[in-house]
Amino acid sequence: MKFEKRMLGKCNLLLSPLGLGSGFFFRHSQAELDALIHLALENGINYIETAECYGDAEEKIGKSLKSSSVESYVFSKCGHKDDHEQPAWTRKELTESIERSLKRLQVECIDLMQLHSCNKGILKKGDCIEVLQKAKKEGKIRYMGYSGDGAEALYAIKTGAFDTIMTSLGLADQESIDLLLPESRENKLGILAKRPLSNAMWSSNTDVLSAKRSLWQRLKQYNLERVKHRLRRLLAGNQPMPPFYSERFAELEYFKLLQEMDLAEIALRFTLSIPGVHSAVVGTTSKENLLKNLRSIEKGELEPELYRKIRERWQLVAKKHWTARR
Ligand SMILES: NC(=O)c1ccc[n+]([C@@H]2O[C@H](COP(=O)([O-])OP(=O)(O)OC[C@H]3O[C@@H](n4cnc5c(N)ncnc54)[C@H](OP(=O)(O)O)[C@@H]3O)[C@@H](O)[C@H]2O)c1
Repeated sequence: MKFEKRMLGKCNLLLSPLGLGSGFFFRHSQAELDALIHLALENGINYIETAECYGDAEEKIGKSLKSSSVESYVFSKCGHKDDHEQPAWTRKELTESIERSLKRLQVECIDLMQLHSCNKGILKKGDCIEVLQKAKKEGKIRYMGYSGDGAEALYAIKTGAFDTIMTSLGLADQESIDLLLPESRENKLGILAKRPLSNAMWSSNTDVLSAKRSLWQRLKQYNLERVKHRLRRLLAGNQPMPPFYSERFAELEYFKLLQEMDLAEIALRFTLSIPGVHSAVVGTTSKENLLKNLRSIEKGELEPELYRKIRERWQLVAKKHWTARR
């Protein structure tokens, strides 16, 4: 496939504009993932993004990459044990986590290791930054990044310690465009977009009421303890619950603005048109969607007029509490 690679800020990594996210790899077999990862690499995607807490994703990625002859980069994240809800931010835990990632990924050096959305207090303490700096000196990681959003991400950028930032950027997630990107560009950080398709939530609902119904159905399927933990975390932070993507899509009424257009394509091209964004990490386990996304990025950036309309729509409709989804 034909697309230009982009240099990731001040990092010496020439990246494909599309990366492969692995949040749901744990649900798939090694054989399925081998086929998916090899297809991605053969079609020009040159990095995979993962995390220690994505179940057995790192292990499976390690095996798939070993069985491919195509050169690629591997990015990971640290700061939680097996599950997103188990924080592990001490020096010892982070150091052990990096060692585990190296082993699972079967590499001697991880191209980018990111702190997985820790809060400001942890960042201020400085231990986690020092652990990454030490790992970098020892050649265990090549670059260090922060993955997250809002005030924490802004603080991380301002420390000057990080090479990259990964933040939520998409049709239904535009907070970071003004909040984080100007400072990131000024500091020449590599900028990765997470959730660039806003989890493809447009496909589920087109009006606010059915969006709320479907949210309730989804909450009922979740593990109760996990839901309680998330709610407690939100309340402790004294922040209003950010609405789910489906509600945002319904209120933004992109369906009217974009009419018959293919939303997956528009979403991806929109994210890649945001000034400063180097690459978008799309989480997929579908070969069809992977190829479709590759075809979308071949079309390049969005027409400036359409980009402007989407931004205007957001500026008109988005509420203050439509913060970036974590
Ligand atoms: N705090 C953090 O650091 C953080 C948080 C969230 C995400 N991330 C990273 O960012 C990556 C991307 O985020 P994400 O996976 O949450 O969101 P996303 O990439 O916006 O959306 C992924 C969803 O979109 C679907 N999809 C992909 N291509 C599609 C297409 N062409 N048409 C329709 N649906 C499509 C996928 O389903 P199929 O599998 O069926 O294609 C999946 O359900 C993750 O994998 C992870 O690596 C990091």
